[in-house]
Amino acid sequence: MKITIILSAAAAVLAVTGFAGCWYFSGEKPVTAKLKVKPEGKILIVCYSQSRNQNTRKVAGWIQQQLGGDILDIETVKPYSSNYFSVLKECRKEPMPEIKKFPFKIEDYDIIFIGSPIWYGTFAPPVKTFLSQADLQGKTVVPFCTHGGSGAGTFYSDIRQAAAGAEVLDGLILRGSNIVERVIRRGTGEMESPDAVVEWLNRIFQK
Ligand SMILES: Cc1cc2nc3c(=O)[nH]c(=O)nc-3n(C[C@H](O)[C@H](O)[C@H](O)COP(=O)(O)O)c2cc1C
Repeated sequence: MKITIILSAAAAVLAVTGFAGCWYFSGEKPVTAKLKVKPEGKILIVCYSQSRNQNTRKVAGWIQQQLGGDILDIETVKPYSSNYFSVLKECRKEPMPEIKKFPFKIEDYDIIFIGSPIWYGTFAPPVKTFLSQADLQGKTVVPFCTHGGSGAGTFYSDIRQAAAGAEVLDGLILRGSNIVERVIRRGTGEMESPDAVVEWLNRIFQK
């Protein structure tokens, strides 16, 4: 009898913690907001995402879920090291690292989303390389970023400057640790959901 009670209690604990772990791991909230306006034009979602959690890439996926379009993942030829301080040195050494050839022609698209993690107060260096190579004249550029707590820094003004000749719409900024870093429980409690993306898209594309 005693053993049965102990085993049942252990099973209950496992079920609860296992379930919670699953929730944390999936890090996914359902979309409940409704997209009101779909912009006209061909959409490209350019994204650089470097951390294990792929925070910015997750947001790119949420945008694609709503609007469709192609995702262009920016990839560096030489990967960064996994140590934050070594990355700092690498960024200083190479402010514009070489990136792999784009598999899409930018000129084929009308609306270009550009997503980056915030690195040292602005977009990550591989995005700088992308911006130096892409001709964004006459395009609609839509920036988005994820950060670790400092906010967007000079990300938006830097995008506006780099995308001269483009119409730059208001961007979206999300705290990365509230997207998927809850896997390791570093979130602040305000878990982001794809609804944030839908509400932002409704705002920027409203007629
Ligand atoms: C090299 C490096 C520099 C970073 N600099 C900043 C920063 O200046 N401000 C900030 O809030 N977060 C900073 N972060 C944290 C990332 O912006 C944040 O974790 C982001 O969500 C990671 O996105 P990803 O998963 O798409 O790579 C930095 C991260 C790295 C690796």
